Amino acid sequence: MAASLPATLSHASNITQRKGPVPIPSLLQSPSSIHSSTVSFSPFSSCTTTSSYSLSVGPRRRCSSKYQRLKRKGFHVECALGEPLKVMISGAPASGKGTQCSMIVEKYGLVHISTGDLLRAEVSSGTEIGKKAKEYMDSGKLVPDEIVTDMVVSRLSRQDARERGWLLDGYPRSYPQAQSLEKLNIRPDIYIVLDVPDEILIDRCIGRRLDPVTGKIYHIKNFPPENEEVARRLITRSDDTLEKVKSRLQTYKQNAEAILPNYLNLLNKIDGNRTREVIFQEIDSILKKVEENSSSSVQLAKTNGNSSTNFGVASSKSVSWRGIPTRLNNIPHSREIREYFYDDIRNSTRRAIEDKKTRLKVEINIPELNPDMDVYRIGTLMELVRELALSFADDGKRVKVCVQGSMGEGALAGIPLQLAGTRKILEFMDWGEYGAMGTFINIGAIGRDEVDEQDDMFILIAPQNAVGNCIIDDLQAMTDAAGSRPVILINPRLKDMPSSSGIMTTIGRDKRMEYAASFEICYYFRLLYYAGSFYPIMGALRMAYPKGYELFRRVDEPNGKEKYVIIAEFPEKPTATEINDAFAGRTRKKEKTAPGIWGFLSGIL
Ligand code: AP5
Repeated sequence: MAASLPATLSHASNITQRKGPVPIPSLLQSPSSIHSSTVSFSPFSSCTTTSSYSLSVGPRRRCSSKYQRLKRKGFHVECALGEPLKVMISGAPASGKGTQCSMIVEKYGLVHISTGDLLRAEVSSGTEIGKKAKEYMDSGKLVPDEIVTDMVVSRLSRQDARERGWLLDGYPRSYPQAQSLEKLNIRPDIYIVLDVPDEILIDRCIGRRLDPVTGKIYHIKNFPPENEEVARRLITRSDDTLEKVKSRLQTYKQNAEAILPNYLNLLNKIDGNRTREVIFQEIDSILKKVEENSSSSVQLAKTNGNSSTNFGVASSKSVSWRGIPTRLNNIPHSREIREYFYDDIRNSTRRAIEDKKTRLKVEINIPELNPDMDVYRIGTLMELVRELALSFADDGKRVKVCVQGSMGEGALAGIPLQLAGTRKILEFMDWGEYGAMGTFINIGAIGRDEVDEQDDMFILIAPQNAVGNCIIDDLQAMTDAAGSRPVILINPRLKDMPSSSGIMTTIGRDKRMEYAASFEICYYFRLLYYAGSFYPIMGALRMAYPKGYELFRRVDEPNGKEKYVIIAEFPEKPTATEINDAFAGRTRKKEKTAPGIWGFLSGIL
């Protein structure tokens, strides 16, 4: 965001600086180091650094023991239903990651991928990578990201990790590493951090010994070897000296915080200063819950019998989707939450356009974008539009971003709700360092005259009718002129409004409404609450093209956390009654209606 935003527009201050959005399609080759034989890119991989690549880390088959267990319980689970467990474990040097990993692997059969172990293996084999890595490891510094990332991505894409699930130990360790995984859409089901005081860590490192034959980790005081024979062959790691441990600890602290925001909603911080058995018990119960959640989602969807419901959770995962972020009532939303929604919208919109859809609308109603709650943050809306527009500009498309101007004339002139000043903000905004503004991005209004020959597509910000004025005619003229070029409406409000004299205009009303309804929803998200309140959040309804509507229940967890569990899917937007029924777990004939706790939703859904 340009620093020069006028003070009166400071509510838009959450617009973040966008680094390097580039209208150069060739950017997409960036992960050149990734082994192409094992990585499959989504049809949208021709987008940007901020768009998601989809790594086929897991075939859409569940061949793990989890699948076997579900089958035994009598569920009909398609092979496509979900993926094996994916776990990340992090913590300072000697916090006990390796020790816990061996216990997790023994019980869950996951593929343990430890970057420390991989690097040590390279060092001891004397490879080029090992030679490069050694000097960093010896000084307690991080080995360069590209070396480690290549190793990890290549290991994750191997058959065993895809089928059995994985346990990633010691990666990501820096913000760029975390971002590399994000871009490849590699996310764990759970992120565990072992928390141990510094003085204990140092003692653990200094006393650590390794068995080169079995790979077992010992400690001269805490876990001495079982017998003399083992004791004789134990070795000490070259980076386990007091000086190097201090340096490693410092490196860890410098980087740990930068990674956390990526995994906040998956974070489980565990007290690692207890016996290894007690720590494992806690980890074990967390992992069991993750497995249960996955199977209970299947079960919940199955028990909510309803003919319009497409049971199963496969589709909620099948487009590499990360699940609904938590803490959505906290305002302002964190950057992570905002970016989650931008990503979700960008991906859905791009899919719809790939499918040659040309009249689209995005309807998103999170607290920060909810005008009904009087917390409408125009900055978030602008930021969303910028992310969307630049993702197409990065493909070389010329995007016109349009905002309707003043409506009416003379004394009746006015700008509809929320849009005052929007155009100014658009002009002030940072549209990237590569001069996209004026070439690939242009700002315009709504109307036939705004459609230029060179425009490839149009994004219209919250077009809306105002009392006494109807935007629909201008909109229609504009879309007629746009022809087969995509027009995307972001949060339109096209309901008919009374005329300036307070009377509902009837002439041509049906036609206008029909036209307004001709835009196809490519993304929809709204939170659900008890009637008449905005707290607590009860669930959410989401639709991301090309899938149908997914209904989620928000569930409080004992540790003060929350999560969203899918309870039903609908091919069309569900009515308030259908939502009520799904929440209550009952089947009802369509014609019967019930007020229920969601009764108020009927007015707004
Ligand atoms: P790495 O091998 O990952 O080292 P680390 O993170 O420093 O962790 P450690 O292996 O030292 O400890 P741990 O947490 O596994 O503890 P452990 O179970 O062994 O990385 C080494 C180097 O490689 C890095 O410094 C870096 O240079 C490079 N590197 C790695 N990943 C990288 C990345 N992603 N990017 C860039 N560079 C990277 O336990 C420690 C001791 O405590 C043992 O003796 C054990 O017996 C004892 N112990 C364990 N649990 C307990 C308990 N509950 N109570 C008492 N004692 C315990």
